[in-house]
Amino acid sequence: MLFKNNNSSDISEDQIALIEYAQSRIKSKKRLFFHFSLMTIGIISLLISNLIFEFKKEIFLFDYPWSYWICSVWFILFLFHLFNVYVTNKFMGKEWEKKQMKKLVEKQQIKIADIKTELEKEARVIAESQLFSQNNPKNTVTLIAAASENNIIGKDNKLIWHLSDDLKHFKDLTKGHFVIMGRKTFESMPKALPNRTNVIITRKTDYKAENAIVVNSLEKALKVAENDDQPFIIGGGEIYKLSIDIADRVELTRVHTSIDGDTSFPEINLEKWQEVKREKRLKDEKNEYDFSFLRYDKIK
Ligand SMILES: NC(=O)c1ccc[n+]([C@@H]2O[C@H](COP(=O)([O-])OP(=O)(O)OC[C@H]3O[C@@H](n4cnc5c(N)ncnc54)[C@H](OP(=O)(O)O)[C@@H]3O)[C@@H](O)[C@H]2O)c1
Repeated sequence: MLFKNNNSSDISEDQIALIEYAQSRIKSKKRLFFHFSLMTIGIISLLISNLIFEFKKEIFLFDYPWSYWICSVWFILFLFHLFNVYVTNKFMGKEWEKKQMKKLVEKQQIKIADIKTELEKEARVIAESQLFSQNNPKNTVTLIAAASENNIIGKDNKLIWHLSDDLKHFKDLTKGHFVIMGRKTFESMPKALPNRTNVIITRKTDYKAENAIVVNSLEKALKVAENDDQPFIIGGGEIYKLSIDIADRVELTRVHTSIDGDTSFPEINLEKWQEVKREKRLKDEKNEYDFSFLRYDKIK
């Protein structure tokens, strides 16, 4: 059947569905009215026949003629029909199903959009990392951090432990190299780290720092450090998160305690990273906790 609206253009599928729904509602109401009329005539006829012919009582358990029983059952059936038309079909009929389906589809569409954004983000990071490693085939970008068992690395822009051997380990590894850090980590230190080239990442375009190079992105920081065979990314939480997917190595001091804090190190995904070194140290007067020096290399 072809449906046309006032402007004589074809009407939408939604409108057709609505018209079909309205037609089926009219039909079901007509059927209900027919049922009502038939029942009224039937019941009246039965009652009159009962008066005229005095049908026998004591059918079933009670002292009523069988015509009364037929009338009662018919009336109950009619009530059931009435309930079906006005309650079940109205609230849980096609329109209700359609609304539920629409809600479900909308939810799925939001989920799909989220997954798409996540995939696009990952694809961008992978492309950037591939581009970077093509330009710097011998360069080992290394994240260096100390994190508790629950991955906490700092609180109130401060370190949360004193581990003398870890500081020495940090100094030994990073000496002579570029150290790349977020603006907050830089400000948590008294001054730029000596014997290293300090690179600070900030979005502020007018940021000034003594004895340090200031850049506005991780890519620029890595570009500045491209001639270093092992530039180190030294934190904090935001910069670790930003760089873990493009790094080649993680030098992690795992501090064997669970602690409260507001900054964390990203979870190391063992499908992407392989532990290649582990060296345990016990706590003593210079080291507040037991800890282990771990090295992870990215699985190529
Ligand atoms: N345990 C460890 O090994 C270790 C190591 C280092 C730090 N920490 C701790 O970590 C905490 C600091 O970490 P955090 O996460 O708060 O800060 P953060 O990573 O040191 O620095 C964050 C800042 O970096 C800049 N930034 C971030 N993403 C950027 C981007 N995409 N482009 C340009 N600039 C960007 C922004 O600077 P602007 O706001 O200026 O734009 C941002 O505020 C402190 O508690 C510190 O003690 C611990």
